[in-house]
Amino acid sequence: MHKAPKFYITTPIYYVNARPHIGHAYTTLVCDAIARRKRMLGVDTFFLTGTDEHGQKIERSATAAGKTPQQFADEVSAAFRALFDRMNIKYDDFIRTTEPRHQQGVQELFKRLQKKGHIYKGTYTGQYCVFDELYVDATGPGAPCPECGRPTETVSEDNYFFKLSAFADKLLKLYEEQPDLIRPEARRNEVIAFVKSGLRDLSISRSTFKWGIPVPGDRKHVIYVWLDALSNYCTAIGFGSEDKAAQEKFKHYWPADVHMIGKEIIRFHCVYWPAFLMAAEIPLPKSVIAHGWLLFEESKMSKTRGNIVRAETVIDVLGNDALRYFLLREIVFGQDGSFSFDALVQRYNSDLANDLGNLSSRTLTMIGRYFDGTVPYPSATAAHKKADDTVKQQAEIAISEFGQLFDDYQFSRALEAAWSLVSSVNKYLVEQEPWIVAEREGQENRSRLATILYTSAEALRIVTALVHPVLPESTANIWQQLGLGDITKFDLTSLKWGQLPLSGKLGKITPVFPRADKSAVERMTQMEQERNHTSAPSPAAAPASAAPASQSGTPSPQVTSAQPAATPDGKISIDDFLKVELRVGLVKAAERVKGADRLLRLEVDIGTEVRQVVAGIALAYEPEALVGRKVVLVANLQPRKLRGLESNGMIVAASVGEEGKPVLAGFLEDVPVGAKLK
Ligand code: MSP
Repeated sequence: MHKAPKFYITTPIYYVNARPHIGHAYTTLVCDAIARRKRMLGVDTFFLTGTDEHGQKIERSATAAGKTPQQFADEVSAAFRALFDRMNIKYDDFIRTTEPRHQQGVQELFKRLQKKGHIYKGTYTGQYCVFDELYVDATGPGAPCPECGRPTETVSEDNYFFKLSAFADKLLKLYEEQPDLIRPEARRNEVIAFVKSGLRDLSISRSTFKWGIPVPGDRKHVIYVWLDALSNYCTAIGFGSEDKAAQEKFKHYWPADVHMIGKEIIRFHCVYWPAFLMAAEIPLPKSVIAHGWLLFEESKMSKTRGNIVRAETVIDVLGNDALRYFLLREIVFGQDGSFSFDALVQRYNSDLANDLGNLSSRTLTMIGRYFDGTVPYPSATAAHKKADDTVKQQAEIAISEFGQLFDDYQFSRALEAAWSLVSSVNKYLVEQEPWIVAEREGQENRSRLATILYTSAEALRIVTALVHPVLPESTANIWQQLGLGDITKFDLTSLKWGQLPLSGKLGKITPVFPRADKSAVERMTQMEQERNHTSAPSPAAAPASAAPASQSGTPSPQVTSAQPAATPDGKISIDDFLKVELRVGLVKAAERVKGADRLLRLEVDIGTEVRQVVAGIALAYEPEALVGRKVVLVANLQPRKLRGLESNGMIVAASVGEEGKPVLAGFLEDVPVGAKLK
């Protein structure tokens, strides 16, 4: 019997000690794009993501936040999930390592390793890096971790050990026999060199803290967090379950086709993980793909460096597709790449608003205007020109090049190939001047117009189908406008020139990528500053209660600050709400801030004092109009500096429409200055 191809792809599971940023979003959306293309090609696809919730690092973060590890993990895991949902990530499962199905599977794996004689008890004395959850070859208390440079801690414990040293030759043979296992090549060489330098047995339990999965039969120990975490790839699809359906699922999807990871965790995935699997006699993953880092302001974006950018900021201002397109087009996959708001807005305007957006709106509007929204018949004879054939050939080249490059993880080049078709068709339209042909009388001209617009619409259909995995929302919209229904139902294997149904009726035509104005960069920069300076200490706060995407048309509140810890269902307690001090203020003075289009400097009387507040409302309000007006102020925010001016509080405003226009909150009745809102 013919077996349908299957494809199982995973992201790393993310630590819950920090809230998600676009570095995490990057890996997840790359996998999402790959999974979407596979599904369009008819492949039985399973896409897994999730959170890594055990270990000393999480236990300490929870204590620092005054929470139990479970509460803490619940909150941050919910924040990751909420972000991925908001990003429209179509994962098939989201695993949490604190779930019973996972714990059971990990214990099963541990028992298997034990039964097969790969585990022994011994004493570990040496250095441990809690940040990387890594045993390191450093000497002496406080010696720096060779991976991250942080001081290591001396650990002296009776532990369970895994006989990793016995696997060195087997691993080297594996890398040789399965050269595609580790990509890119540079990372493969790094792994080979590491294994050749000698492998020591690995401690796979800890006994000095409690936050982990107990070693079966020895509750004094918890299982080492990396053995716990790596197992998620198996436990999520049913490994270790007694349920028949779960076992079948594991048989069906395992081994994973792709483990997608950031380059810093290659050793865990290409040395420890295959060794554990070989020892347990479980088939090995087909590939581990390590991408580079997203840099911001020259260094790796990370919470510790304090240089993170949140995906929500980009989504709020430019939408999901803009973030996806930028990350896949601008960053050469596999290498480190810089993120900047300027480059993002530039790319958005040139490639999306100008190139694809224009192609779509011009073509569809002209079909609407000249053919009453019905796809016209191309003429095969008199009105046919060589330029029409050239577009067809270019479309065929785009189909083949896009597929090859994308499937080889060269996303940027794949998109270049698709955009070279977009540019050609835009040029074709400029040269063929359909708007002038439309003015001319006679059947010949009418046929010519039909051919030009059919050619352009068919090329648009092809680009739309190709780039759907990268731009799922806007391409679904263009597809509808082309009158083609649900794009996710389209069989990509059948894509070829000439399938646009003649006489098909177009859908409602709406612009897909409104141009981003000059203020977009400033708005995003300011949103990041506000989020960084005003979010509550709980890492869960921002994503869990983040405002909905402006693309959805839902106004998002301007107060993104002082976000209290949310429970997994997104609710907060009244106590949390009451921590936010909201007061009625009277604007005494207002002026523009030099060099910042959006900012006003206000002096606001809140009864007990006059506060200086810098507010991003200058595009909506003239300073003079604000003097004497009563506003609502968040009064207990930590002060922050904007453009060198200290801001003490935040003015509450609704954020309306796609542009997020601020509209100040106010009262119908008169209220005394300083009154508290609750
Ligand atoms: N929990 C472990 C992984 C266990 S997998 C069995 C872990 N978690 S993490 O939260 O630190 O996430 C690491 C992953 O997030 C990276 O491998 C990468 O996929 C992604 N990224 C985090 N910061 C990133 C950048 N600045 N740039 C690119 N990817 C980034 O390690």
